[in-house]
Amino acid sequence: MASTEYTNTNKLPCMDYLCVASPPARVVRGFALGRTLGAGVSGKVKEATRLSDGEVVAIKVIDYAALATKAARVNLASEVATMHALASESTHRHHFTEILEVHEDVDYPRKCGPGGLAKPPKRCVLLVMKHCANGDLLSHLLDSGGFARTKAKAPEAAAAEVATPAFARGLGACKTLFRQLLTALVACHERGIAHCDVKPDNVLIDGQGRLVLADFGFATRAAPAATPCIPCTTDCGTRSYMAPEIWALGDRLRTFGGGGAAASYDGAAADVWAAGCVLFIMLSGYPPFETATESDWWFRACRAGRHDRFFEAHCRDCPAFPVGAKDLLTRVFSVDPAARPTAAEMLQHPWLLAGGGEDGISASGGAAFEEEAACVVAAADEKAAAAVLATRLAVAAKAKAEASKRAGGVSPPVGAGFGGGGGGQ
Ligand SMILES: Nc1ncnc2c1ncn2[C@@H]1O[C@H](COP(=O)(O)OP(=O)(O)O)[C@@H](O)[C@H]1O
Ligand SMILES: [Mg+2]
Repeated sequence: MASTEYTNTNKLPCMDYLCVASPPARVVRGFALGRTLGAGVSGKVKEATRLSDGEVVAIKVIDYAALATKAARVNLASEVATMHALASESTHRHHFTEILEVHEDVDYPRKCGPGGLAKPPKRCVLLVMKHCANGDLLSHLLDSGGFARTKAKAPEAAAAEVATPAFARGLGACKTLFRQLLTALVACHERGIAHCDVKPDNVLIDGQGRLVLADFGFATRAAPAATPCIPCTTDCGTRSYMAPEIWALGDRLRTFGGGGAAASYDGAAADVWAAGCVLFIMLSGYPPFETATESDWWFRACRAGRHDRFFEAHCRDCPAFPVGAKDLLTRVFSVDPAARPTAAEMLQHPWLLAGGGEDGISASGGAAFEEEAACVVAAADEKAAAAVLATRLAVAAKAKAEASKRAGGVSPPVGAGFGGGGGGQ
């Protein structure tokens, strides 16, 4: 009898209906697929659970259709080899996404179409990676709007948030994360690897709040003898983060997957420029340049050595931008790649040497950052400070000479600042 059945199973008729209605998880090669973590040029990245041991992983699903060309296949092989090299050689392996398994020739089950119609599976390659539970930096920044904009919390509010990720708030956390990004880049560059697509979407945060550098799809590996310069011949990366020398070489670089390179640039110096853009975004919540080309007012200011104007215009919207970070970024945003500090030199900057690891932001805004900057300089290692100052003076002198060569000064475009004309959205 129906009524007895309901009593025995302790379910209502509608629950039976719900059980039938929620589709079972799709399973592929022993992994139950979950939500989509992200999507990029090469396909989707899915969260999944390994059925044998319950481990949660991230799976990059690469459609064979995207591997139609030889260049694309070579590129995937190179991405996997680079990630394996970093995982096995580096003492900082926890700062890189680790590949756990690679599956080729997979029939990837697709979701049912409209009306529940089954779609045929698609042939894919699966890269099974360690899962970074706190997602990517871009999503975090979109939520918070930038570390220098984050107000300090009252102690009781902070205490109530012990369960939030370590990276979640504050200037100190920003410095810690950025130092970890630089540490990861130093490890790459020492091994002759240039990442070539450093940006917040490719920076992940693991379950312990540690930074993990991801997506080596554009990475270039040089022969060890080539270090510290890593010759790159490909026009690749993401527009807002591409260094000026890549734009300047333009057509002389080969397009991704194409041949015929006649020029090259140093991938390590280009990574440093991109890392500077990431720091700027972490602090302000918006990018420093639209493109590092002559069409961009912010770039022209830097090219003319007028980083003071660059910051003055940008900081109308973000007065709390730390002075120490301005000093560091003035050096990083050197148009001449040879004048830029290396990632290892950046780690020695007084602003990065002091503080971090805890919430260092003050609710009182700009004045607090001036104070903090003074403390940073006082607390910094004297030798490092002197080296930084010397380099800074050399860069300033060079920039000044370059600026005086060019006719006319720079002035902010009408309405410059966040959202103003002339770029730097
Ligand atoms: N190991 C991972 N853990 C958590 N999320 C990840 C992981 N790998 C990638 N993602 C998410 O997927 C997105 C795309 O991954 P990515 O490797 O950058 O691929 P693409 O080459 O398509 O850009 C990332 O921006 C991130 O949001
Ligand atoms: Mg990516």
